Amino acid sequence: MIKLMLNILQLIVACVAVEVITEPKSLIVSVGQQNVNLSCKTPERQPIDFCIVNVPGVKAPFASSERLPAPVEGITFFGDGWKKGSCGVTLASVKPENDGSFECTISIRGQRHKGLIDIVVQVSPEPPVIEISRAIDHSDGTFNYGQPLIARCISRNDWPGAKLSWYLNDTQITDGLGAVFSEKVGRQVIVQQFFRKSIAIEDNRKRLVCRAEHGSYPRGYSEVSLSIKLRKSASDKNVVNDKTAVGATVMQFPKPQLIPSSDTEMIKDAFIAGTDAVLNCIVRNGTGDVKFIWFLDDHLIYEGLSALFVSQDDKGNVSVAQILKRKMELEDNGKSLVCKARSSRWTNETRLKFTITQWSK
Ligand SMILES: *[C@@H]1O[C@H](CO)[C@@H](O)[C@H](O)[C@H]1NC(C)=O
Ligand SMILES: *[C@@H]1O[C@H](CO)[C@@H](O)[C@H](O)[C@H]1NC(C)=O
Ligand SMILES: *[C@@H]1O[C@H](CO)[C@@H](O)[C@H](O)[C@H]1NC(C)=O
Ligand SMILES: *[C@@H]1O[C@H](CO)[C@@H](O)[C@H](O)[C@H]1NC(C)=O
Ligand SMILES: *[C@@H]1O[C@H](CO)[C@@H](O)[C@H](O)[C@H]1NC(C)=O
Repeated sequence: MIKLMLNILQLIVACVAVEVITEPKSLIVSVGQQNVNLSCKTPERQPIDFCIVNVPGVKAPFASSERLPAPVEGITFFGDGWKKGSCGVTLASVKPENDGSFECTISIRGQRHKGLIDIVVQVSPEPPVIEISRAIDHSDGTFNYGQPLIARCISRNDWPGAKLSWYLNDTQITDGLGAVFSEKVGRQVIVQQFFRKSIAIEDNRKRLVCRAEHGSYPRGYSEVSLSIKLRKSASDKNVVNDKTAVGATVMQFPKPQLIPSSDTEMIKDAFIAGTDAVLNCIVRNGTGDVKFIWFLDDHLIYEGLSALFVSQDDKGNVSVAQILKRKMELEDNGKSLVCKARSSRWTNETRLKFTITQWSK
């Protein structure tokens, strides 16, 4: 009697779409994690005719049965057995190639049903890094009061992507954060976020921290920090104790160079009246805190000056440049253009005496 009722029940269930119960539904594991169980069960524990599993990283599907040894090393049967409507596998140790979709195909009374378990094998990311925008004068490791601080935190080679958060000393930062960019390359994600703030006096000696949360880090996260130091004023004599200042004392202070751009029309060394001259004043091998002041004879030049370009080569040598665009006139002939470069520790200048000529056709 009970058997008959069960059979009727099974019939009803078989006619309705049968959902294979998978346990877990999905999982995030690390490489080397041991004894990971993947289980498929029938509703009401209806007996299974057969159970075939497809394990990511294993070439061919195989029968998962308590009676047959699994044909793959490191994989064993898991479950209560086909009679009890249960099959599955235990992975002795997770491998990177196990990332993907685990699939079990179960036959109940001749009807096939599928169960899926999404397996994410996470990859340990590299520790996060903070980068300071090159547009910011930070070559000596200090910041100017009032200056913008533009930083970016990058976490590379994550899977899945790390979650970033920022702190100033122990206070979590909520303002000034840009959107999070995730770039997926194969099974790796690069996650990055910008942070921008104006440096205030109270930021001095604080630590800017970027935290990357990821399940594969032993503590659940990894941090990188940058200590914010305000630049001492030029009058501060202690400045020589500064690490880079000591380096600067042994090297000769660089001299700016004035270079006409190749667009500037010239005849030999003479500029042509009525044309625009584009002149680049550049300090190479200097510090990033260089500012320029331009004169034509004794007159300060305000107009035609570009923003400062700061660049750094892979050896850390910093170049700072500014461009002057000026219409050359005959009356400039004989005048001297002066580009004065000034940093917190030195001043140097360069001169260019103008020779102006008329177009000679
Ligand atoms: C997997 O199942 C086995 C046998 O029931 C058990 O000993 C083991 O702890 C399980 N693994 C996990 C990660 O729960
Ligand atoms: C921030 O933390 C650093 C060290 O972690 C400490 O020296 C400094 O005094 C702290 N600054 C503030 C304003 O709390
Ligand atoms: C300016 O630069 C030149 C060339 O590097 C150097 O010889 C000179 O000492 C510098 N002047 C100052 C004041 O540093
Ligand atoms: C800057 O340094 C490089 C490498 O040492 C050197 O070749 C170059 O001449 C330097 N430039 C100036 C302007 O001193
Ligand atoms: C520029 O780079 C060279 C190495 O090519 C190094 O010897 C030199 O000290 C650097 N100059 C500065 C100012 O950092």
